[in-house]
Amino acid sequence: MRGRTFLIGQFRALLIIFITLPLGACLQPSHSPARDSAFARHGMVVAGHPVAADVGLQILQSGGNAFDAAVATQFALAVAYPGAGNIGGGGFGVLRSADGQHAALDFRETAPAKSHRDMYLDENGEVIPRASLDGALAVGVPGSVDGMARMHAGYGKLPWSSLLQPAIDLARNGVVLTKREAEKYNHHREAFLAINTTAPPLVRSDRPWRAGDILQQPELAKTLEIIRDRGRDGFYRGDLANRLAAGIREAGGLITEQDLQTYRAVWRQPHTGHYRGYRVISMPPPSSGGVALLQLLQAIEPHPIASWGSLDHRTIHLLTEIERRVYADRAAYLGDPDQVDVPVKQLLDPAYIKQRMADIALDAKTDSHDIGPGQLPPTESLETTHFSIADAAGNAIAVTTTLNSSFGSKLMVPGTGFFLNNEMDDFSSKPGVPNQFGLVGSEANAIAPGKRMLSSMTPTIVEQGGKLFLILGSPGGSTIITSVLQVILNVIDHRMPLQEAVNAKRTHHQWLPDRILVETGALPPETELALKGLGHTIVTRKSIGQVNAIEVAPNSTLLGAADLQRGDNQAAGF
Ligand code: DON
Repeated sequence: MRGRTFLIGQFRALLIIFITLPLGACLQPSHSPARDSAFARHGMVVAGHPVAADVGLQILQSGGNAFDAAVATQFALAVAYPGAGNIGGGGFGVLRSADGQHAALDFRETAPAKSHRDMYLDENGEVIPRASLDGALAVGVPGSVDGMARMHAGYGKLPWSSLLQPAIDLARNGVVLTKREAEKYNHHREAFLAINTTAPPLVRSDRPWRAGDILQQPELAKTLEIIRDRGRDGFYRGDLANRLAAGIREAGGLITEQDLQTYRAVWRQPHTGHYRGYRVISMPPPSSGGVALLQLLQAIEPHPIASWGSLDHRTIHLLTEIERRVYADRAAYLGDPDQVDVPVKQLLDPAYIKQRMADIALDAKTDSHDIGPGQLPPTESLETTHFSIADAAGNAIAVTTTLNSSFGSKLMVPGTGFFLNNEMDDFSSKPGVPNQFGLVGSEANAIAPGKRMLSSMTPTIVEQGGKLFLILGSPGGSTIITSVLQVILNVIDHRMPLQEAVNAKRTHHQWLPDRILVETGALPPETELALKGLGHTIVTRKSIGQVNAIEVAPNSTLLGAADLQRGDNQAAGF
């Protein structure tokens, strides 16, 4: 069955390549990179910006492994895609080495030592609007540089400096702006100016940015050179670290030189589970992604969603009811495992899942809660990025990385050239009060010094018969988990070729607020009517998630599927 699906997928993807590539490109030798949905034998990178995908590809072509390519892609994204790509943020990676071993890299930001649980509350105990989102107070201690250094030390093959150099060259020589990037910089211009005393290079004074303009970032190039020459210490100790801490302090933030010096990315054991014979390997806490994904899959397995179809009201109702319960668990129990006891074993216990889902009725919706629905922010303020990489040797890595909101806190310490995250908003500022994703939390995710804020990022690897099968992940805040879930269901249950599985419209429910988010045009009218008949509230959003995925065919061909319709994502293979 998989073979047949694969052949259909292959045919489709070849068609896409032939339709979208200029004739000259089609005539080029077969080692030239494919541009979008792509097939390859030797290596594949699917990333959030074409230039970053090309950097990862070049590293693979010059003999680097998937982990080298991941490091280079992360730094290239920091230059070409500064709204989400970063050195001032953090993320998670799930990897599988060629010998079948798994590991999870946690380079999540931490709360500064001077932080405290009520730091975003006023004297009446109310949450101060946007205090955890804008400017210096919103910044968590960045983890990306230490994360990349740790990944390189554990798994890299090429010299560290060669993985930084492409990003340095891009920052110095410039990146050609895509339409989306130009529009974003223009859109955020006023916020950049309001938050910074020195205008960041993304502010253009003569006219608005246009697609095709070249963005040069000489200060970022210098920062990256320091990291190239001094490794993680270049960022966390010495001149750059001192300037960073001083700049954050002057802007009213809490991060100190000591916070930077003591930051450590952590290797963790990924969580694994099974779904219809496939093995799913995903991110453990402090991301909620892996636990939630495995709970969701376990709860869905007894139901015949393949025979119902992906957009049938029975499937969407079932997913909604299961998601409602899983996200309620997330709010109550999930947090940083180094500081709170996260009951992962109980949450994933089949007997618990069975009992937890027992009151789901297939013909009526449940009420989420008595508290009012959380307020959702405008979608354009959300940005994160995911990349998936596979090499010829069988190494694979899924990395999701972020500044949290678009351009994070939007604070750029003068002279450093990079934006700092606003990941502190992922903590629960006050129990029951929703964050920017409408997510509520509890004690488990309260702010504490050195603690990692709970995440939804879900970098995931799926195996079939002990062999690598899928590498995937997504941005999208609270919708990350359900975006990853739906692509897995589209491939495994609905037998879609990978590109179709990625393109397919998505839905989402997160317990609170109690409404089904639906991508514009997703639902057939009869499905929408039936869901409303069951009592569901439906809210439309232009786009949910951006899944960048790779599938490994039984003959080892790598199929890359970039989420082309929802962002500047690109697959590049050779
Ligand atoms: O860790 C998290 O769950 C969030 N900080 C992710 C933010 C995100 O995905 C924003 N948008 N696309």
